[in-house]
Formats: sequence, C-alpha cells, structure tokens
Amino acid sequence: MSELCNEKHTYGNLINGRWVESASGNVITITSPADGSFIGEIQAVSREEVDEVIRYSKEGLSLWAGVPIFEKAQILYNAAELLEERTEEIADILMMEIAKDRKSSVSEVKRTADFLRFTADAGKSLEGIAVSGENFPGGSRNKISYVRRVPLGTVLAISPFNYPINLSASKIAPALMGGNTVILKPATQGAISALHLVKALQDAGLPGGVLQTVTGKGSEIGDYIVTHENINFINFTGSTEVGRHLSKISCMTPLLLELGGKDAALVLEDADLKYAASNIVEGAFSYSGQRCTAVKRIITTDKVADQLVDMLKTGIEKLSVGDPRDNVVVTPLIDQKSADFAEFLIQDAVAKGAELIVGNKREGNLVYPTLLDKVTVDMEIAWKEPFSPILPIIRVKDMEEAVEIANRSEYGLQSSVFTKDINKAFRIAEKLEVGTVQINNKTERGPDHFPFLGVKASGMGTQGVKYSIEAMTRPKAITINLTE
Ligand code: NAP
Ligand code: G3P
Repeated sequence: MSELCNEKHTYGNLINGRWVESASGNVITITSPADGSFIGEIQAVSREEVDEVIRYSKEGLSLWAGVPIFEKAQILYNAAELLEERTEEIADILMMEIAKDRKSSVSEVKRTADFLRFTADAGKSLEGIAVSGENFPGGSRNKISYVRRVPLGTVLAISPFNYPINLSASKIAPALMGGNTVILKPATQGAISALHLVKALQDAGLPGGVLQTVTGKGSEIGDYIVTHENINFINFTGSTEVGRHLSKISCMTPLLLELGGKDAALVLEDADLKYAASNIVEGAFSYSGQRCTAVKRIITTDKVADQLVDMLKTGIEKLSVGDPRDNVVVTPLIDQKSADFAEFLIQDAVAKGAELIVGNKREGNLVYPTLLDKVTVDMEIAWKEPFSPILPIIRVKDMEEAVEIANRSEYGLQSSVFTKDINKAFRIAEKLEVGTVQINNKTERGPDHFPFLGVKASGMGTQGVKYSIEAMTRPKAITINLTE
C-alpha cells in the first residue's frame, strides 16, 4: 500500500501535501459497476475541511508563483512519465471503477500523459505583448501598455465519471501552467482513479497546497464548495442539469462548462455508406455510448436509409459485449439507474412505432447495443441524451429538414456530415448550431489541442490546451507613461 490508501483500501484526500482521512469518519464505499465487487472507500469531506483546503490553496498561490514556468513544466513532464509507468495499474482501476473496457482505459491514461506534456510546452510558450498608445486616435507613443497573462487564483475543477483521469487532468494541468492553485472535486464513482492521477502529480514534485482534492457527494458538499467566496474559477464537466444549477448559484465566479450532447450524424445520399456506417458504430458505441461526444442520432433520407441500416446492423452485431476485463467494446453502464433510463428510452420509442433493428436486451446494468430505425420527433430518444449504447435513426425528406431537426435539439456540442461533396459539407456545416462539425468523421473531442466547446445547453467557454490556459488566466496590463 502507498500513502494514497491504507490496507483496507481507504483513500484519503491530498490536503496541503498529505493524504488525510476526514476527521468526521464519514466515508463512501465504491463498488464496481462491472461485478459489484468492493474497490475501496473515499472520504466524505466536511465543510470545515473544505474551508481548510481552500485556505491552504490561497497560501499555495504565492508558493506556486515563485516556481519558474520551466520548472512548473518539468513537474508536468515528470507526471506524464509516471502516468506512463503506471498505465497498467491505473487502467486496472478504471476498468473496475467505471467499467471502462481495457483498450479505452489504457488509451485514457496514455492520452493524459500526452496532454500533460503538450500543456507543459504550451505553458512555456506563453508570452505577453506590448501595446503602444499611438495606435489609437489622439494616443501617444509615450504610453506603452505591457500586457501579460496572470492566474485567476484558486480553480475548482469538477470532473465527471466517464473520464476521471483525462477530464481531471485537462483542467488541472492548464490551470497549473497558468499559475493557479487547484482543488479537484472528482465524480464520486471515478474518484479513486482520479486520486491516482493526483498521486502521480504529487510524486512528480508538486508542492503541498498547489493541488488538493475534496471527495464527497456533489449533492451534499458541491453547493458549499461552488459558492465559497475564495473560489476564483469553476471548471466543470458533467451533465447539463448540474451545469445549469452551478451557473445559477455561482454568482460572480467565472465558469467553464462542458455539458451534455445529442450529437447528430447527417448522412447524405452521396456518402461512402460503408465508411460512414463503420465510423458511426465506433462513434456511437465505444465505452457503451457514455461519452458526451458519442454519436447520439443519425439523420438521413429514405433513399439511403435501408442500405445504411443493413450496414450498421452488421457492424453492431460484431461488437463484443460483456466484462471490461475481457477486452470487449460494450460494458456495463455506470449504474442501474442509467440502465433503467436506457430501457425506458427504448420502450418509449418502440411503443410509439420505432423499428427495433438490433438490441433491446439487458442483463442488470449491461445494456446491449441497440439500433432503432424510423424514430420520430415525438419519441424521447429523438431528444434525450441516453448516455448508453442506443442509436436512433431519424428519416427525413431532405438535408434541409435534417439540419432543422439537428438544430431543434437543446444541445449544441458537435455534429458530423458524411458526404463526398465538400461544397455541400461546408454549406451544411455553416448551418449547424454546434461547437464543432466533423466532416466525414464521427464526433469526438481529440486531438486535445483543438478547441472543444458546446453551445446552447452543451456548455459555456472553450477547452483545449491553449484555450484552457487562456480561460484560467486573465490579462494584466501595466501601463508605462514616459514623461520625457
Ligand atoms: P454529473 O452527474 O453532472 O456529475 C459531474 C460532476 O459534478 C461530479 O463530480 C458530481 O459529483 C458533481 N456534482 C454533482 N452535483 C454537484 C453540485 N451540486 N455541486 C458541485 N458538483 C456537483 O455528470 P456525470 O454523470 O458524472 O457525467 C455524465 C454527464 O457529463 C453527461 O451528461 C455527459 O454528456 C457530460 N459530459 C460532458 C462532457 C463535455 O466535455 N461536454 C464530457 C464528459 C461528460 P458526484 O459524482 O459526487 O455526484
Ligand atoms: O465525454 C468526454 C468527452 O471529453 C469526449 O471525449 O475523446 O471520447 O470524444 P472523446
């Protein structure tokens, strides 16, 4: 056992450089969605402990400010190396804690190591500018504004269950390179994985107080942390429901919100259907559809729909389903409630006339990949984010109607357009109300230095290495007034 947890697998929080258990003695038991087995216990922090963590975070600011940027970057390089060395160990935890298949678990850890390195590089390249007063009417070259980016203070990073390592690191690393201190509140289911990331960062040389953690149920402790007067920025990824709530209560604390999605794949009549089908199957069903960027609906016309359905069905039937340790693609959902919701969406669609092509089978929280054709706009699955392996097909008369239905969604994360005609692709892409349009590819976040954002109910603000650093820093101007 390391200092991270004891022999009973009780994990502490990293507070001011030490792993400590809550004085309240309150813990939360984490079991595996894969087989119900015990994984460990995490702390349910008290309000007093939150106050303490925030106090240390404030003290950590001046300490961290004293560390030169190239040394900050070196700590991230060290952490990347440690993550890579610990890939198998951390991937095993991901597989059990969030039932992520082995390949995706390994890839999450490696992608995070790459993210840390890229962020270190980007942080080292941050430069200020000098602006001369003479550029503005009536201005003078005796006035020079020296502008550089400075930290916001203490960043509260709140991550979701589906990428506990990567979506924690994608907040922590840019915040640190921007000179902030960070408090991580990971998803309860996923917290143990996230604490392993934090341990790697600590072992890499981060001083105490610069990165700390607070575990506990968001519904119990979340509002208290979010509304704390000494939190200077909230970087949240999670559901639209919680994101909306945070934006209501956060008052004047700036927020970055990456929320839910209902990404549509528009398949045009001239598309390479075989390619589109296999690409969409991957996009819709990897990690059982529990990705904000999963393809969550197909919109196409009757002319190609039958052929596309056949190809999709063939692809879906080849997907392996089962235990994450067995190298399968579709694994049990994070909890029973999620599986109940998936089942409800399928039943609702079928009752209202959707054609079930494949799937609609469930064993506990394992939901088999399901394809529904002839889905209509009165069905819940046409609009709701399933966060499960369900793919609905909506048939339309033309692409004008496809764009209208795509845009009718409350969400606006990403969309795909499959066509061989780049002119058509561009015209449609311009009309889609989303953060990113993928031409001839499934919806997806990476590569992680690209801007990643959602509009409407999908979010506020932009992630991506340099965008995240910008979001968590502000310009500071010092104006020199020459007098001679
Ligand atoms: P969630 O239920 O909204 O939880 C996200 C995080 O918020 C967790 O750490 C949760 O803690 C915490 N939380 C809950 N209530 C809170 C409160 N009142 N104050 C502060 N924190 C609170 O989301 P999830 O189920 O983990 O993740 C799935 C959702 O995330 C999906 O909707 C998905 O689309 C979205 N997502 C979006 C992106 C994106 O980049 N756009 C990426 C990944 C996921 P507890 O776990 O303790 O409740
Ligand atoms: O849902 C998590 C989001 O960040 C998606 O990432 O790489 O699965 O598209 P990715």
